Amino acid sequence: MKKIFIANWKMQLAPTEAEKLAQSFVHTFKDTKNEVVVCPDFLSLAAVSKIFKSSDLSLGAQDASAFERGAYTGEVSAFDLSSLGVKYVIIGHSERRTCMEESDKLISGKIKAVSAEKLIPVLCVGENATERKQGKAASVIRGQLKGAFKSLPAKNLRSVVIAYEPIWAIGTGVNCDPLIATRMKTIIKDWCERAGLKKTAILYGGSVKTDNATSFLGKAGYDGLLIGGASLYVDSFKNIVNAKSK
Ligand code: PGA
Repeated sequence: MKKIFIANWKMQLAPTEAEKLAQSFVHTFKDTKNEVVVCPDFLSLAAVSKIFKSSDLSLGAQDASAFERGAYTGEVSAFDLSSLGVKYVIIGHSERRTCMEESDKLISGKIKAVSAEKLIPVLCVGENATERKQGKAASVIRGQLKGAFKSLPAKNLRSVVIAYEPIWAIGTGVNCDPLIATRMKTIIKDWCERAGLKKTAILYGGSVKTDNATSFLGKAGYDGLLIGGASLYVDSFKNIVNAKSK
């Protein structure tokens, strides 16, 4: 299976900056053997979609509405994302769970909406520092997985990506010990197998840098990485993508 590298640009770039960075990504990842996915914000999606046409890159979105196209002010439908050429949609990122108070119910609805348009949901799961300290990490993750697939049986999903993103490692520079990452990957994999999820790729995310990328892809056995901060610079992102073969 190709390794998947997802650049999550969050709300960090103005449209002109996103277009410029997208152009350098096209140039840098020409003929890439990996699945390289870029998730700009909604405002830049249409322009980046044009830039990515006939490139070797895939387009992702950072979120999608749980509702079908209609009278939902401020929402963006999976249908419209699909028509722009979006292939992946990040769902339930911890920043949305925390800052926007997204519930398991809403996340579950979003997975359903996205899957109905044949887009691939990238479900983010992860425990916070207190939950880890209290020994609750595994149960938190299992709870998030169960909640996310509540409204549609996991076995009906064609393809899903799950990103393990410990909240205490996101944007903090704090490294997740590869041993912890390995254990969490096994927990997620076991849950997916029991739920009947057929094609599931499991990614790691949280302060991924060139010097730690290999440990998650190597021994810990992740199928790819979800990268925030380091994806805003083409060179650091390129080094992460290339690090896996070392
Ligand atoms: P980070 O973000 O790489 O900046 O820690 C990862 C993420 O939030 O997906």
